[in-house]
Amino acid sequence: MTTERTLSIIKPDAVQRNLIGAIYQRIETTGLKVVAAKMLHLDAAKAQGFYAEHEGKPFYDGLVEFMTSGPVMVQVLEGDNAIARYRELMGKTNPEEAACGTIRADYAESMRFNSVHGSDSPASAAREIAYFFADDEICPRG
Ligand code: PPS
Repeated sequence: MTTERTLSIIKPDAVQRNLIGAIYQRIETTGLKVVAAKMLHLDAAKAQGFYAEHEGKPFYDGLVEFMTSGPVMVQVLEGDNAIARYRELMGKTNPEEAACGTIRADYAESMRFNSVHGSDSPASAAREIAYFFADDEICPRG
């Protein structure tokens, strides 16, 4: 087992529907620890930079528009194999394909309004965590 950190975002559709607590409960029940958190309302430049690897794809403009449409909760999760475990907890990008009991199966409304983001690799996690948090904003919990 490798202790990892991953970047989690509760997206505007879920914040708007008061699902922060429900999603935190799933994160904590699965054994992952929240070691940093903040609520932000992203501007276009911040969202574009975060999703820069997808620039030019058909969904990019809509994704940026959605992610700037209201507040998001951004958190760093820590635990054994945190990246894969959180992605399993989220379920597939398309909620219609997400496994029963996953966050997206239960809460997501569509490919765009899919409630949560999670880093997809150690390299992405490192970049994404640094994109939102300074080192001294992260509180290791052992
Ligand atoms: S790709 O091309 O396979 O890398 O894309 P994918 O990993 O499926 O999705 C990358 C992010 O884009 C979001 N997405 C969309 N947003 C809006 N509309 C549509 N149709 C759409 N398709 C994909 C998807 O939720 C991913 O966002 P994050 O925040 O990484 O989950």
